[in-house]
Amino acid sequence: MRSAALGFAAVLTSLLPAVSGTPHGLRGARIHQRAADIAEEYDYIIVGAGTAGLTVADRLSADGSSTVLVIEYCHVVSDEVIRAGGGRSFADPGISYNITSVPQPFMNNRTQAVRIGCCVGGSSAINGMVAVRGTRSEYDGWAELGGEGSTWGWDGVLPYFKKGMHFTPPKPEIAEAFNITWDPDAWGMEEDTQVYASFPDYQDPGVIPMYNAMKKMPNIDVPLDGAGGNNGLFWFPSSLDPETYWRSYARTGHYDNIVDERDNFDVITRHKVQRVILDEDKVATGVEFTARDLEEGEEEAPVQSVRARKEVIISAGTVHTPQILQLSGIGPRELLEEAGIEVLVDIPGVGQNFQDHAYLSVSYMWTNGTPVAPSVPANGDPSHRSSPNLGAWIGLPTMTDDFEALAARYEAQEPSEHLPEGTHPYVLAGYADFQKLHASLLRSKNTNILWLPVNSRPGGIVMSMHIVSHGTINIDPANPTGEPIVDYRALSNPIDMDIMVENIRYMRKYMGSPELEAYGPMETIPGIEVEGEGLEDWIRSVIIPTNFHPVATAAKKPLEKGGVVDEELLVHGVKRLRVVDASIMPMVPGANTQQPVYMVAEKAVDFIKARNAAGESEEELPEPPEGAQVEPPPDPESTVPGEPGPGPGPIEPPEEKSPGDIEPVDDGE
Ligand SMILES: Cc1cc2nc3c(=O)[nH]c(=O)nc-3n(C[C@H](O)[C@H](O)[C@H](O)COP(=O)(O)OP(=O)(O)OC[C@H]3O[C@@H](n4cnc5c(N)ncnc54)[C@H](O)[C@@H]3O)c2cc1C
Ligand SMILES: *[C@@H]1O[C@H](CO)[C@@H](O)[C@H](O)[C@H]1NC(C)=O
Ligand SMILES: *[C@@H]1O[C@H](CO)[C@@H](O)[C@H](O)[C@H]1NC(C)=O
Ligand SMILES: *[C@@H]1O[C@H](CO)[C@@H](O)[C@H](O)[C@H]1NC(C)=O
Repeated sequence: MRSAALGFAAVLTSLLPAVSGTPHGLRGARIHQRAADIAEEYDYIIVGAGTAGLTVADRLSADGSSTVLVIEYCHVVSDEVIRAGGGRSFADPGISYNITSVPQPFMNNRTQAVRIGCCVGGSSAINGMVAVRGTRSEYDGWAELGGEGSTWGWDGVLPYFKKGMHFTPPKPEIAEAFNITWDPDAWGMEEDTQVYASFPDYQDPGVIPMYNAMKKMPNIDVPLDGAGGNNGLFWFPSSLDPETYWRSYARTGHYDNIVDERDNFDVITRHKVQRVILDEDKVATGVEFTARDLEEGEEEAPVQSVRARKEVIISAGTVHTPQILQLSGIGPRELLEEAGIEVLVDIPGVGQNFQDHAYLSVSYMWTNGTPVAPSVPANGDPSHRSSPNLGAWIGLPTMTDDFEALAARYEAQEPSEHLPEGTHPYVLAGYADFQKLHASLLRSKNTNILWLPVNSRPGGIVMSMHIVSHGTINIDPANPTGEPIVDYRALSNPIDMDIMVENIRYMRKYMGSPELEAYGPMETIPGIEVEGEGLEDWIRSVIIPTNFHPVATAAKKPLEKGGVVDEELLVHGVKRLRVVDASIMPMVPGANTQQPVYMVAEKAVDFIKARNAAGESEEELPEPPEGAQVEPPPDPESTVPGEPGPGPGPIEPPEEKSPGDIEPVDDGE
């Protein structure tokens, strides 16, 4: 029998008692490629075997009491491609999605490749392996945006940062030679965490004079490291196995290492979740998915479904999570109606609030010798290096005395002025909060407005770590199941330009600082004489509106503030449906986002376990009587969610009264 049967038959059968006599009735934790090989029903269904998805799956399946299915659109990729550090996997088109943003008017209409990982492990498999967290003020900002009583401030996230990655200090001789320090109290070394943060056994001695120069910049702090929520000049680890120096990522830490031990954990690859199934009480009961590869004789992949006893957890990442919600009838009413999707829950914030980091590169050369690097005899193998391990992460007041004027200018803006016309009042209200918070962050030394990676070469990357131009990632109403429309709206708010200008000026101050002056630093691109409008023109012509850290399209904020999920990451107005991935971040942290994603996943697991241990979800949804309220299998053509044509899919139970509107709830956030 084909167990996860076609169309609605699976839902029908899965209303019946469990499949077999064993608690799980599954065939062991391994990767499947055919829907026929998975069960009809699981306790938890997780959409996306990425960074967050595998973390949550591992934790929920660890004690054997629950069954877990992960559905992943992409495939398992050979270790060799992925695990070796460096830039190889970063640029491999075979393991990334192929998505391009819409033209960006404030970037001379340039478009941007939206790089996200397409393989088991998700973006953790292709990322630059930088393992940082961001600062106390930034997470306290998350709590502020979440509303009264939110537990997502620094003190509430620190324990989960500790759990998310297992830290290993550098070799003593390397630590000594490079003055690498770390904050032992802030790092976790949890035995059950096998995603590693560690240092390669090699560093480039050329960074030492650069480190010393940065250290003498006015007002710069030099904390032990950034793990305790501080900023300044510090060394940070990579997501690296401390013994093999290979990539440590969600697959090695939350799948490969447990695959043989769990018969309650299944992964199915090359299947795309199309939408979440909600019953008439807005309870998520399962998902619909389609195979990526057609079987003999098939013209289009049939829609299949699988049922979730406890929860559906969407971990499809910032780009695809809003698409799955929108295809499920959960999203901004107008957009869904335009796409011909029945509105089940009107959540204006789905796909909005989109943020990332932005960067460009300023080129320098030495015209008078080269800073002298000491020799480091105990240095290891240069090929073990994967990412920079040293950087300056700094706040605006550290960079410029003009910070107050800039903050005041931003604070004085009318929120609607720089957001798309017709932005929903909820999203506007959320932006007003963001603006207020962000103005205070611009005045705070403890916020990473700029990241300057410090390496042995002069000049280099200038990274804007907080962006106030919010973009959108929405379904394409003309082709809802195709790739979503990504719009960074880069530089649409002129404050982002002002901040980038300050960031470049800081690079110039650093290069011109007394320690480096002697070597005759010369800016070759754009050239030190390029200032004012000329500099802004140059910025528009080169800026990259992403550092591959997209967040916030399903933000954890109150509904009436443009939020999508609540304090526990449950989707507003829906039961048993959670989002756990980078999309829930209400504001991009001033840090690369993988460690924050592991933190989010670990914290979510505690919420999930607490709710389900209390049996709450069982109470909320008594098992429906056999066969009740289930429509007969619909015409396969009309089951493709969101496909324009036949209108609202027949799968959803008929609407009773006002379709899907939820009250703006005071949910205590
Ligand atoms: C090139 C690059 C470099 C980066 N560098 C760094 C770095 O150096 N340091 C750092 O901290 N962070 C870095 N990041 C960011 C970091 O890796 C991501 O923020 C993080 O991995 C995102 O985790 P996630 O769980 O939200 O999504 P992902 O890990 O991307 O997982 C989402 C998963 O869902 C799957 N999926 C999507 N839609 C569907 C669907 N409909 N059905 C089934 N499955 C679906 C995807 O295929 C994917 O596997 C980088 C990212 C990239 C892309
Ligand atoms: C990516 O998509 C574009 C347009 O959608 C297409 O022309 C191109 O061939 C694709 N590239 C790959 C590697 O699939
Ligand atoms: C960008 O494209 C729009 C629409 O095609 C056009 O009106 C505008 O002039 C273009 N801007 C630039 C800088 O090329
Ligand atoms: C190393 O860094 C620490 C922390 O900033 C500092 O106190 C110490 O002076 C530094 N040592 C050297 C040799 O630079």
